[in-house]
Amino acid sequence: MSILLVGAQGQVGQALLPLLAPLAEKWGPVTAVGRQQLDLTNLAAIATFVKVLQPQLIINAAAYTAVDKAESEPELAHLINAQAPKVLAQSAAECGAQLVHISTDYVFSGQVGSPRCETDATDPVSVYGNTKIAGEDAIRAVLGNHIILRTAWVYGTQGKGNFLKTMLRLGKDRREVNVVADQVGSPTWAYDLAEAIVALSLNAAAHPGLYHYTNSGVASWYDFAVAIFQEAKALAIPLEVQRVNPIVTADYPTPATRPAYSVLNCQKSRKR
Ligand SMILES: NC(=O)c1ccc[n+]([C@@H]2O[C@H](COP(=O)([O-])OP(=O)(O)OC[C@H]3O[C@@H](n4cnc5c(N)ncnc54)[C@H](OP(=O)(O)O)[C@@H]3O)[C@@H](O)[C@H]2O)c1
Repeated sequence: MSILLVGAQGQVGQALLPLLAPLAEKWGPVTAVGRQQLDLTNLAAIATFVKVLQPQLIINAAAYTAVDKAESEPELAHLINAQAPKVLAQSAAECGAQLVHISTDYVFSGQVGSPRCETDATDPVSVYGNTKIAGEDAIRAVLGNHIILRTAWVYGTQGKGNFLKTMLRLGKDRREVNVVADQVGSPTWAYDLAEAIVALSLNAAAHPGLYHYTNSGVASWYDFAVAIFQEAKALAIPLEVQRVNPIVTADYPTPATRPAYSVLNCQKSRKR
């Protein structure tokens, strides 16, 4: 009996690590791997790793998450976000494990102005979103015993980068920061997400399937930035920033199109 955590060095992986005790009680010791121990671009290595470890629970917190870069690296993004999860799911099926996999609000276009449910049709508008839905579909096709948890706008203290860290970095040197105000979503604290992953994992066998989880409330990136700077001020974090200017998406062009209204209906996961 053991647990395999893939993507242990990422923002969500790092948030999960200290919370895994209840899972370890049920399924045994945790083997937590980052890219150096298990490179998801090596599909044969994934199958071998799982075959040797024989875990009862696999949590996949790894992904190709560079949304803009994915537009110019679609094959690599597909390999990591779709083919690797498929092999993880096949390997889980072979050793009787359940797989918990993290997905994204970017499987939706954000063109509908109401929170999206698990039963709503997906319509991704970016390479990243397309590769993530391909990963979901591949898991569903080969493994019944899975949880796919879509989340959004994750921020925490660990991992390479997130909006919170970017704002604090910009706010250190700049007196004014321009932030997009016409994209809205639900900023989600990585440690709340990690708790939800643990809770759903414990129930996975009884209640497998697709779930949405974010923190509650809706904000634009501009609202989020204002809140970050207010909080930083309250905590006496030294910042140069004096002004946050709301701008429109058209004034901040990026390679990937992002959903305008990116809110998930999380009622199903809140009941678990
Ligand atoms: N962050 C968000 O706002 C957000 C929103 C919705 C959904 N999600 C989903 O949440 C999950 C966790 O994301 P996160 O925020 O924790 O992202 P993250 O901080 O970028 O972590 C992703 C991890 O995956 C690893 N990884 C990438 N390519 C790999 C490879 N070839 N082999 C092994 N590991 C590889 C990365 O390793 P390196 O550091 O070595 O690259 C990194 O540690 C992902 O499924 C993501 O799609 C995130």
